[in-house]
Amino acid sequence: MAYNLLKGKRGIIFGALDEKSIAWHTAEKVHEEGGKFVLTNAPIAMRMGRIYELAEKCDSKVIPADATSLKDIENLYEESMDVLGGKIDFILHSIGMSPNVRKGRDYGNMNYEWFLKTLDVSALSFHKVMQLAEKMDVMSEWGSIIALSYIAAQRTFPDYSDMAQAKAVLESIARSFGYRMARSKNVRVNTISQSPTVTTAGTGITGFDVFHDFSDKMSPLGNADAASCANYIVSLFSDFTRMVTMQNLMHDGGFSNSGMTYEVMEYLRGIDESSPEKK
Ligand SMILES: NC(=O)c1ccc[n+]([C@@H]2O[C@H](COP(=O)([O-])OP(=O)(O)OC[C@H]3O[C@@H](n4cnc5c(N)ncnc54)[C@H](O)[C@@H]3O)[C@@H](O)[C@H]2O)c1
Repeated sequence: MAYNLLKGKRGIIFGALDEKSIAWHTAEKVHEEGGKFVLTNAPIAMRMGRIYELAEKCDSKVIPADATSLKDIENLYEESMDVLGGKIDFILHSIGMSPNVRKGRDYGNMNYEWFLKTLDVSALSFHKVMQLAEKMDVMSEWGSIIALSYIAAQRTFPDYSDMAQAKAVLESIARSFGYRMARSKNVRVNTISQSPTVTTAGTGITGFDVFHDFSDKMSPLGNADAASCANYIVSLFSDFTRMVTMQNLMHDGGFSNSGMTYEVMEYLRGIDESSPEKK
C-alpha cells in the first residue's frame, strides 16, 4: 500500500546493483511513494549489474559516477538537478566494498593499499558526497541524507575485516557533517545499521550464511530484510522524521539490544544433545 509520502521530492540513489541490493528495494519503494530520482553507480557496475532495468521500471535516469571521484560526483549533481528540475531532497549512499575482504586477505596480513581503498569507497565517499552537496548548494531545506552501516562498527565480527573500520568512520562522518548540514540548511544526516542481508556485498563476507542465521536467532523480530530497510529509508526521507539527525539508527529486529534469546539457547542445546559425547 502506498501513501504518497515522497510526492514532489527529488533524490539521488547510489548503489543499486541488482534486485537484491538494498538500494534497488529502496528505489522501488521511493517510486511507489511518489518520489522522483536519479540512479547512480560506479561505471563498472553498469556492466555487471542490471541498473537500466530498474531505471525503466522507476521512470528514472541513470548517471554513472564513481563515488570516490569528486569530478564524477560534481557532474552527477549538475545533471541530476537538470534532469529532476531542481534541488535535491534526499540522497541514499548505499555503497560498500573492501578489496581485502574480496580477495580473502586475513586481518593480520592486511594489504594497506587495499585498506585505504576500502576506506575511500566505503566511508570517505560519503564525506565527498556531502562536501560537494554543500559546496554546490545541492540540497533543499529539510532534506535527508542516509548511508548504510553495520553493527561491526561497534562490535567485532570475525571476517568483517577492514569494513569494520570503514563503518566506524562512516558513522562518525554522519555526525560531523550532520551538524554542519543541520545548521546551514536544516538537512538531516543519519546512518542505518542494518541486519545481515542477502546481497552481493553481504554474501561476499566469509561465513555470511552462519552469521546471517545466528543474527536471525539473536533478533527477537528476526533479521530485517532489504524490503523492510527500504520502508525505513522511505520514512526517513519523508517529512515525518524531520527532527532525526546525527544518529546511527539500528534497523536489526532487536539484535543490538539482545544478550541471549531462547532461539539461540534451543539451537545450542540441540547441538549439545546431538554431540557424540552425550550419546
Ligand atoms: N548486505 C548486508 O548484510 C549489509 C548489512 C549492513 C549494511 N550493509 C551496507 O549496505 C550498503 C549496500 O550494500 P548491499 O548489501 O545492498 O550490497 P550491493 O552489493 O548490492 O551494493 C553495494 C554497492 O556499492 C557499489 N559501489 C562499490 N564501489 C563503488 C564506487 N566506487 N562508486 C559507487 N558505487 C560503488 C556497488 O556497485 C554496489 O551497487 C553497503 O554500504 C553495505 O555495507 C549491508
